[in-house]
Amino acid sequence: MPLLSWSENYGTKIKQFDDQHKRLFDLVNQLHEAMKEGRGKEIIGDVLKALGDYTKTHFAAEEALMKTNQYPFYEEHKKEHNLLLVQVKHLQQQYQEGRAPVTPEVMNFLRNWIDDHIQASDKKYGPFFNGKGIV
Ligand code: FEO
Repeated sequence: MPLLSWSENYGTKIKQFDDQHKRLFDLVNQLHEAMKEGRGKEIIGDVLKALGDYTKTHFAAEEALMKTNQYPFYEEHKKEHNLLLVQVKHLQQQYQEGRAPVTPEVMNFLRNWIDDHIQASDKKYGPFFNGKGIV
């Protein structure tokens, strides 16, 4: 069973970001599978890197649209993004140095962070962007 399953409940009303969230879910699920199957360090490291890279790309896309449209919660939203990026980078470094395996606790942290962030913060921008004609 995947760790994260996208459903309309995660819908933000902005198609490009829903599509990006689906891709993020895929990457988290790939990492989860690799961890569960005890895949090699190299594979897990690659998936962790892909997840980190894609997260960065996705956050940058949201932030660019927010900035262009003067989204009133831009600063606080960006702070949440930055916090996760710092944590993912830290995890990647520790993993590469063999000091922190990807554990069920790490996966739960990622799942909960993504779930909370989409529900509490991302879904807030939908009506704002819709009001600007962005869907
Ligand atoms: Fe979809 Fe704000 O991250």
